[in-house]
Amino acid sequence: MKRILISLLMSIAIFMSGNSQNAVAPKLGKDPVKKVIAAMTLEEKAALVVGTGMRMPGGPPPSSNAKTPANPPAGPVIGQTKTLVDGAAGTSYSLPRLGITPMVLTDGPAGVRISPTRENDKNTYYCTAFPVGTLLASTWDVDLVKNVGKAMGNEVLEYGADILLGPGMNIHRNPLCGRNFEYYSEDPYIAGKMGAAMVNGIESEGVGTSIKHFAANNAETNRNSLNTIISERALREIYLEGFRIAIQEAQPWTVMSSYNLINDIYASENPELLTNILRKDWGFKGFVMTDWFGGKDPVAQMIAGNDMLMPGNPDQIKAIVKAVQDGKLDVKILDRNVEKILNIMLESPRFKGYKYSNKPDLKAHAEVTRQASTEGMVLLKNDNHSLPFEGSIKNISAFGNTSYQIITGGTGSGKVNEAYSVSLIEGLQNAGYKVNDDLRSLYENYLKLTKAGRPPVRGMMAMMGSAAIEELNLNQDIIKGMANVSDAAIITIGRNSGEGRDRTNIKGDFQLSDFEQQLIKTVSDAFKAKGKKTVVILNIGGVIETASWREFPDAILLAWQGGQETGNSMADILSGKVNPSGKIATTFPVSYDDVPSSKSFPGKELTDVKPADQGPMSSFMRIKPAIVTYEDGIYVGYRYYETFKVKTAYEFGYGLSYTDFTYSNIKLSSTKFSGSISVTVDVKNSGTVAGKEVAELYLSAPAVKLDKPAIELKAFAKTKLLKPGESQTLTFIVDSRRLSSFDPAVSSWVAEAGKYDVKIGASSKDIRQSASFTLAKDLTVKKETVSLVPKEKINELKSVK
Ligand code: BGC
Repeated sequence: MKRILISLLMSIAIFMSGNSQNAVAPKLGKDPVKKVIAAMTLEEKAALVVGTGMRMPGGPPPSSNAKTPANPPAGPVIGQTKTLVDGAAGTSYSLPRLGITPMVLTDGPAGVRISPTRENDKNTYYCTAFPVGTLLASTWDVDLVKNVGKAMGNEVLEYGADILLGPGMNIHRNPLCGRNFEYYSEDPYIAGKMGAAMVNGIESEGVGTSIKHFAANNAETNRNSLNTIISERALREIYLEGFRIAIQEAQPWTVMSSYNLINDIYASENPELLTNILRKDWGFKGFVMTDWFGGKDPVAQMIAGNDMLMPGNPDQIKAIVKAVQDGKLDVKILDRNVEKILNIMLESPRFKGYKYSNKPDLKAHAEVTRQASTEGMVLLKNDNHSLPFEGSIKNISAFGNTSYQIITGGTGSGKVNEAYSVSLIEGLQNAGYKVNDDLRSLYENYLKLTKAGRPPVRGMMAMMGSAAIEELNLNQDIIKGMANVSDAAIITIGRNSGEGRDRTNIKGDFQLSDFEQQLIKTVSDAFKAKGKKTVVILNIGGVIETASWREFPDAILLAWQGGQETGNSMADILSGKVNPSGKIATTFPVSYDDVPSSKSFPGKELTDVKPADQGPMSSFMRIKPAIVTYEDGIYVGYRYYETFKVKTAYEFGYGLSYTDFTYSNIKLSSTKFSGSISVTVDVKNSGTVAGKEVAELYLSAPAVKLDKPAIELKAFAKTKLLKPGESQTLTFIVDSRRLSSFDPAVSSWVAEAGKYDVKIGASSKDIRQSASFTLAKDLTVKKETVSLVPKEKINELKSVK
């Protein structure tokens, strides 16, 4: 122990105060990276690949060692490290003698997450809360997402950070995953396209991103220890494909490996995943960092190509130094990882000496978020053109707690500290509506009293957000009274969730609570009796059950969580200022039992297995060994519902507009495939108001040797704002990669010979135009070099497609 302490103190002395070679030491940026690495001590190299640490509320200090530079001052909580940028999630070491500056990493993904205020500082550091990923994907608009990314990247830059920890790119395998709001879709193609657009937008500001969590991190329960058993085909086609698209179309600065194990190996310790697939097969050039406290063996992580360990603790530095000294870690591997980090550092604004202002243009960004949020809201139901509100509607009764307490985004590290948020009632008032004040007082008093009666939540629990408040139980007479005095009713149903916890299939969560059900029915009946409309707004981050109550209201607007301007965006749609054009990128099933992964999600705890030692964080993070087998294989979301003809409440790709669109004139560049095919279709606004339409291209591929889903999304496009009567020709390109499926028997992406049906639809069910082409011979599009399924597991997974 004494020896270790002495050697550590020596190494600290070396990299804190410099050494005799300082005067001649090469400098990053002036000298080649390799020369800088050659001048680094082993301890310096080990420090660079490990972050400067973080202390969790109530958790142990980062190391059992007392005072080291990697042991940050006691007290700060996750998201509140106080060095450089207060509230950032992590920082890397600086080595001034070599010109190496620190890099500051902030969460992500719905905006920059830093502390909004600082001790002894009158200035504020609020960031824009942008819409959550689920909403952004519902825009189906890559240019818009890129623009959101640009605004977000500008806040990273102007607040002095270097890398944003996002976008989140995991697949919505199950609607109950607590972090689905951070992710885009159940479909890897749209997730990949959205992720690429976001990365390109953020990085256009000269800062970096970290696409996360790589890979197959689709549940929060036991997230640090969940052994995720997946077939090679499902991994390749569903869980890796979105990441591949983002890597190849946007080349992000960094990738964040996930906590979970994939087929028995921690993602962060898996060389096949992080080196062979990510780098050799896909051409990723940046560096990989762990998720916070992820994995357990720093040496295995180094070897795997997980270049940086976050948030870092001195025990990891020690382990790496020792492994090199003992010959267990080749220093060349350490050098390789250091080189990847330094190459990115060269691009970082702090290294370049950028003089950040701490004053991004929050006003301009509020406009960006409002527009994006409006475009991603989805009109699920609109009987008899109940929306937009007619001019005669002026007074509105707003029911539901969430009408008064908007949910701008989810909880946990995905929560942004925004300066303000616009609630539904504020949005309505801004748009010129009068809100029923009696009802408003009832709700506001109820919410105030309930909150006052609750014990305060602090630390980690506060990060997870406070528990939802049960709906106010209004009696029928009050509701009838409101129907007499108001022109229309709105009921907002809210749900929130986040990191560290999954949702449940219970009343009040996936299902509506009895009070909510009753509220919708009673209000709808009372207003209908007076010839007035009721609109339900869903202010949610993930899918809920809708089939049991959707018949009651006249209209349903799925508003998702639209960031700080959510209330204004809702009013934009309700008033008709903006015609809704969002479509869901994740299916709303009839019931939870219909979800293909409902039986296995989130996995089971292994009581007979000893928990892995993941260092000082093990007990704090309640790491329990757990396992989940993805027996749904490739049949995730619509791939399952469409193939096995299971009825859904709202199918993938669905969303209404205030106008109608007709599709015509489908044309293929050829009916025989060679290399790629381009498809065009005309979309015409055949209704009476201006609007935009999302057109989706699905392919039904021949199932000769391999099973194929009935349809798969292969391309999509959104029209410009079309005036009534106006048309636009949309073009879609389908290349050979889009034709192929992964055949594990030959470890290759193969397009099978035969007939391919092209289906262009307004949703996955509402197909408007079809055509077909043929592929003459089987085509091997790409051979993969490695398998992520150990040989002994292949048999076990045989029945899993
Ligand atoms: C989350 C990451 C996040 C990191 C830093 C982890 O707990 O899983 O998504 O970026 O913390 O806050």
